Amino acid sequence: MFHEFVGPHIQFKLKRGPRTEDSLHWKLPPPPAARHGVVAVRPKPFRFDLARRAGGGGEEEMRFTASPVVELPVGGAVLTFEQDNDSFEVGTSVWPSSLVLVKFVERCLRDPGLPFADVLRFPGTRAVELGSGCGPAGLGLSRLGLTDLVLTDIAAVLPALRRNLRRNRPHLPRAPRLAQLHWNCPAHLATLATPRRFDLVVAADVVYVQESVPHLIAAMDALADAERGVVLLGYQIRSPEAHQVFWDSVPAAFPVIEKVAREHLDPDYAYEESDVYILRRRPRQ
Ligand SMILES: C[S@@+](CC[C@H](N)C(=O)[O-])C[C@H]1O[C@@H](n2cnc3c(N)ncnc32)[C@H](O)[C@@H]1O
Repeated sequence: MFHEFVGPHIQFKLKRGPRTEDSLHWKLPPPPAARHGVVAVRPKPFRFDLARRAGGGGEEEMRFTASPVVELPVGGAVLTFEQDNDSFEVGTSVWPSSLVLVKFVERCLRDPGLPFADVLRFPGTRAVELGSGCGPAGLGLSRLGLTDLVLTDIAAVLPALRRNLRRNRPHLPRAPRLAQLHWNCPAHLATLATPRRFDLVVAADVVYVQESVPHLIAAMDALADAERGVVLLGYQIRSPEAHQVFWDSVPAAFPVIEKVAREHLDPDYAYEESDVYILRRRPRQ
């Protein structure tokens, strides 16, 4: 049985049935307040009988057959993201802050009168995304012209990311590279930061486990250029503890923190619970 929530821009299908009804669920927050009638994010079944089999490269392939698809209209196209109903990886769902982030950028690019033009000057910008999941933020920004881009995630999520990249490839000016990155893996970080670090680090909805926050900040620090590196962050409070540790610690690496005013977000994608932050090494010139 499918429960269908239809908003003006996004449609999520929530698969419910005897297989998942009684199972434990990931402790996801309730959907963002539906200011514009949009309901997002299904409960995540916490199940171990995954619909997976080993792929050729040692990675696991996921079945997406009955998965809900999330649509993101951006840059004159509609990107679509397939989620995996049966996975217990959080990265195989689309999280709302990624959509808020992309639509904010689209709005800024359309209206040069808005601030942040320095961050969003995409031609020539070398960028990396942390915790790409199904790819909504990175692929959305790619559609908007961020063409020198590496999308990253843990190995278990890369098949979902790869599948969504293939699905949306016709709408992208250039295919972003995919790379495995575990935030606490120095070898992954060193490989990515070679031959040089990135001008822009993108991340959406990545602050939710307190223990991984120091690794996340260290990864941002290791990957962003030491002088002019900027972090573009889609953010929602997922855990008060992780939230506290993140904002206590991140100024050591990125002392200049700007929260995008709500009036600068896309009004149709300005969920009450999601924010966009810009973290800098130095004050804006
Ligand atoms: C809540 S999901 C957000 C996914 C995507 N950015 C979105 O907004 O739809 C968090 C992402 O961070 C990734 N992640 C969590 N901990 C990580 C770690 N220690 N190293 C690398 N990626 C991690 C997860 O695999 C997942 O894809």
